[in-house]
Order: sequence, then C-alpha cells, then structure tokens
Amino acid sequence: MSLKRMMRFASADLAIDLGTANTVVYLRDRGVVLAEPSVVTLETTNGITTVRAVGDDAKLMLGKTPDNLQTIRPLRHGVIADLDVAEHMIKHFVKKARAHSGARRMKSPEIAICVPSGATPVERRAIRDAASNAGASRVWLIEEPMAAAIGADLPVTHPMGSMVVDIGGGSTEVGVMSVGGMSLSLSERVGGDQMDEAIVSHVRRHHNLHIGEATAERIKKESGSALADGNPEAIRIRGRDAVRGVPREVEITRGEIAEALEGTVSQILDAVRRALEATPPEIAADILDYGIVMTGGGSLLHGLDTVISRVTGLTVRVAEDPLNCVAVGAGRALEETDYRSVLQAA
Ligand SMILES: Nc1ncnc2c1ncn2[C@@H]1O[C@H](COP(=O)(O)OP(=O)(O)OP(=O)(O)O)[C@@H](O)[C@H]1O
Ligand SMILES: [Mg+2]
Repeated sequence: MSLKRMMRFASADLAIDLGTANTVVYLRDRGVVLAEPSVVTLETTNGITTVRAVGDDAKLMLGKTPDNLQTIRPLRHGVIADLDVAEHMIKHFVKKARAHSGARRMKSPEIAICVPSGATPVERRAIRDAASNAGASRVWLIEEPMAAAIGADLPVTHPMGSMVVDIGGGSTEVGVMSVGGMSLSLSERVGGDQMDEAIVSHVRRHHNLHIGEATAERIKKESGSALADGNPEAIRIRGRDAVRGVPREVEITRGEIAEALEGTVSQILDAVRRALEATPPEIAADILDYGIVMTGGGSLLHGLDTVISRVTGLTVRVAEDPLNCVAVGAGRALEETDYRSVLQAA
C-alpha cells in the first residue's frame, strides 16, 4: 500500500445519507458499512428521558411501545424535525460506522452529509451542526440529487444531460445534471411515507380497520403498485376493528391498494413533468437519449417506472441498489477528485 493511500486510510472519512426513512453511512475506501432506519426509541423513567434504542432495534418497536417508551423519527421530509434526537442518532451511527475502521479511529473524520435540494439555510445549518457535533473535523454538504446521480453512475462530469428522480420516505427530488453541476433541481414533499398513510386511511375508511404504519409499509412493499389496473387478487391484512376495537382480519384486493396509492403517484408524476418542462432544450435532447434514472426506496414501488415512462415517453430505469445510491454518490465525492467540486464547505 502506498503511503498516500495509508494516509487516506488514516482519516476514516464518512459520507452520510441522513434520510427520513433510513440513514446510510459510507466509509471512505470501504463502501456502505451501515444502513438502518432513522428511528430512535426514548424511555422516560421518573421524569428522566434516555435513549433506549436506535435504528433497526428502534424500528421493531414502532407502534408497539408502552407508555413510558416513545418512538421518534427525527426527520421529516428529509430535514431535521427534532434536533436533539437527530444528533443523538447521528452520533450513534457515526460511532457504529467507525467501529469498522479499526486503527483509523484515532483521527476525527471529515463528514460529507447530504441535504435535500429544497432545504432552507436554517435546515442546512441544523444538518451541518449535527454532523459537527457527532465529531466531524470538517463538514461538507452535498445536494441529494447530485449524490444520487453520482451513486447511480450518471455521466455527471460529461457534457451530457441526464435526469435523476430520487424517491425517498419523505421527499421526491428531481435533478437535472450537466457538466459537473446541477442545472435544475426540484423537491416535492411526497414519498413513501405518504403512500403508507394513504393505505392506512383507505383501510380505515373502506374496511373499518385500524392498521399501523409498519403494517401499511409492508402491504405497500409486498402488494402495492403504481398501476391502477383493478387487479382483483386479494390479500389478507390484520388490524384493530375501528368500531368494536377487537383484532380482525380483512381481505383487500391489490387493485384497491393501487387505487389508494394513486394520489401520491400522481404527485410524483407532476414533479417529474414540471422538471422536464423547465429543462433547457439542449439538455432535454440528451435526456431523450439517456432516459430517466430512479433512485431511493420509493423507486421500488411496483410499476412506478412503467407509469413514469408512459407519461413522459422516456426510457426509465431503476438504479442498481437504489436505497444506497445517495450515500455511495456522496462517498465517491469524498474519494474521487473528479467529483470533489460537488462538495460544499459548510
Ligand atoms: N419494495 C419497495 N416498494 C415500495 N416502497 C419501498 C420498497 N422498499 C422500500 N420502499 C420505501 O422507500 C422508502 C425509503 O426509501 P429511502 O431509504 O430512499 O428514503 P430516505 O432516503 O430515508 O428518505 P428521504 O430521501 O425522503 O429523506 C420508504 O418509504 C420505504 O417504505
Ligand atoms: Mg433519501
């Protein structure tokens, strides 16, 4: 190993995709070392509140906690909603990720952290402070669509236009890239969380059944679709009867679930359409060649690529490993000098 490479190893720099649903951490020269839900469980005993669980362990408790426990998602729509809890969560994840770095633990790392393109200066400052309080020697911010595009291998440093659509838990970000920069970005506060909420309210309204967020998310992943094609195939779901208050199981068709998701899907389509309308013609011509690339967990919704392709007339593909694209892109920006200019000193 060259000395230069060893020196770089000594830094243990991190790239963090602090998402509404999931936090993904990339360790420089190693890759993704952590991907866990952005969830924290707090415990209050005798008026004193402490952190009981973070990440995977906390998500298992979602919707099931007794009175003295409280499960919190400290981010909403990609930005920090609960500063103290978010900081605690980031510290926990940074510590856990750095445990992978062995001897490199010595020096404080540089941290590149992603911000939604629609974040306000105040929201950006909160994200920067949280990273800095987690022990960063230096904090870089990177726009989420740019990170997603790099992570999805779009030709961002070439004179070639391309479009990325990142659909997360709390937001959808559309970015138009060209020659190392983002020529346009647009952020809509719509994503997977809203799909889950739509399923919860559909089931309550049409079946008199209360289900929790976690159940709705599972239904969405297993049986949801962006194609409202009236699929009559039925699945069984469990919850609490809204009238009698007892546990009950009902049957619901896949077509119904798709119908419940229609509103959210059309908001995503709108965002893509608006971005295309605002795209300069030369870049639009390139996008016609290259198509649209989707990233983020929401891009995995069955049929969403098909619907976007149908509406825009463009080729649409889901990136490889869509849940990790943003973290991988931010990590590459730390590693590769070609991409360095996309990091903003914070
Ligand atoms: N197979 C799937 N089908 C549909 N949705 C899915 C699937 N897998 C994951 N999701 C959804 O993707 C969302 C999480 O995606 P992701 O981790 O990219 O979001 P995030 O980065 O945390 O959020 P944001 O970018 O909005 O801050 C969740 O709503 C999750 O339910
Ligand atoms: Mg995201």
